[in-house]
Amino acid sequence: MRIRSRRETLELGRTIGERLERGDLVTLEGDLGAGKTFLARAIARALGVPEAEPVASPTFALVHEYETKKGVLLHADLHRLRGPKLELEIGKLGLRERRSEGAILVVEWAEDAQALLGGAATVAVRFVTIGPGSEREIEVSFSKGAP
Ligand SMILES: Nc1ncnc2c1ncn2[C@@H]1O[C@H](COP(=O)(O)OP(=O)(O)OP(=O)(O)O)[C@@H](O)[C@H]1O
Ligand SMILES: [Mg+2]
Repeated sequence: MRIRSRRETLELGRTIGERLERGDLVTLEGDLGAGKTFLARAIARALGVPEAEPVASPTFALVHEYETKKGVLLHADLHRLRGPKLELEIGKLGLRERRSEGAILVVEWAEDAQALLGGAATVAVRFVTIGPGSEREIEVSFSKGAP
């Protein structure tokens, strides 16, 4: 789909957030600055994380945790973990276990990690082209029902 503005990305985030259920996995792919964290924030808002609570990039913490109206939301960024230690490092973070306990996972740079995150993504988002300006070409696939 073609996105023409930040507002349209926010709307996509709302659509995704409203459809998510406990234990779901959202994977976000795309280059640096594509809008993965921006979309993750919109998903968090749709799940009820209040505007007063910052939803920032988990670049350094790797995982940020939020309470939502659908239970725990974990927002992770695997960029720094890519490579031979990926499996070990994801294991340390316990994301698969948390998912199996019902946490919703929204994970940036997850292309190599779905199996390590407990199986296929419920929603897979790929930012294919970025720009000019706020335009984005995005592929979204929902594994459950029609969007
Ligand atoms: N349509 C759009 N959708 C999302 N973000 C947009 C859009 N237009 C402009 N932006 C801007 O692009 C930037 C995206 O940054 P963001 O941190 O979300 O990228 P990212 O994909 O998470 O990068 P990284 O790989 O470094 O984590 C933000 O500054 C955002 O305001
Ligand atoms: Mg990011």
